[in-house]
Amino acid sequence: MYQILPWDSDFFGFRVARITLREFSDENAETLLPALRKDGVRLAYWALPSEAFVDLQWLEAKGAKLVDEKITFGRTLDLAVVKTYPDIQAYEGEEAGPELEALAIISGTYSRFKVDPLIPREKFETLFKIWIRNSVRKSIAKEVLVAVSDQKIKGMISVGEKSGQGNIGLVSVNPEFHGQGIGTALVRSALQWFADQGYTRATVVTQAGNEGGCRLYTSCGFKILKKEKFFHLWL
Ligand SMILES: CC(C)(COP(=O)(O)OP(=O)(O)OC[C@H]1O[C@@H](n2cnc3c(N)ncnc32)[C@H](O)[C@@H]1OP(=O)(O)O)[C@@H](O)C(=O)NCCC(=O)NCCS
Repeated sequence: MYQILPWDSDFFGFRVARITLREFSDENAETLLPALRKDGVRLAYWALPSEAFVDLQWLEAKGAKLVDEKITFGRTLDLAVVKTYPDIQAYEGEEAGPELEALAIISGTYSRFKVDPLIPREKFETLFKIWIRNSVRKSIAKEVLVAVSDQKIKGMISVGEKSGQGNIGLVSVNPEFHGQGIGTALVRSALQWFADQGYTRATVVTQAGNEGGCRLYTSCGFKILKKEKFFHLWL
């Protein structure tokens, strides 16, 4: 019915779980809460397919917040559409540094950890700093690509693997340089990177409310694979 998430529990300082039930029914909802409480869980993540029935009133009355509509995009990798961008290169530093950390925080603008008012702002920022630090150290990504000009990192994208496919993690462009094609160049360079590594498909997740992100991936040839409503259940 659910699994305890050790990393998240350690990070937040209380027990965090992921509910694995993929459908909502009064019956499973009624057995779930007592089980979570008995186990000392304070926060449970629950992703349900967007088309599935959800009793929003019931969930909200029990302390759940709809924090995200998660969209998974995917596409096949067709080398013919990929170009090389000279200003994009693999980040060579051993540690992330303040420029990349600031970009990581921007990449989380629409994240459920920022949207949920019960998560302190400082926790959200720390989470994204850890994410980019671990991406640069290659423990949760395989590479971080950066857009550099005038000795400034204007944007970044992290690339890794999920379920045997190329996967984009963090994507962000410094707001001073939005709308200049840097996001597109980063995504296309990531596609090139995946193709070079021999991947035949790539995926990326964003939020339905992130119009810029959705537009960026669609214009780079991605199609929607699935949509999920994402709840934070506070107990
Ligand atoms: C999303 C983001 C990376 C785009 O970077 P960018 O350099 O401005 O993107 P580009 O200039 O290459 O534009 C890419 C496409 O998205 C569109 N777009 C960019 N920002 C947009 C916005 N805020 N609203 C609507 N469309 C937007 C552009 O019009 C363009 O579409 P087109 O190719 O059909 O003309 C950037 O806005 C950003 O850092 N946002 C905050 C972090 C974020 O949301 N990251 C993605 C998380 S999944």
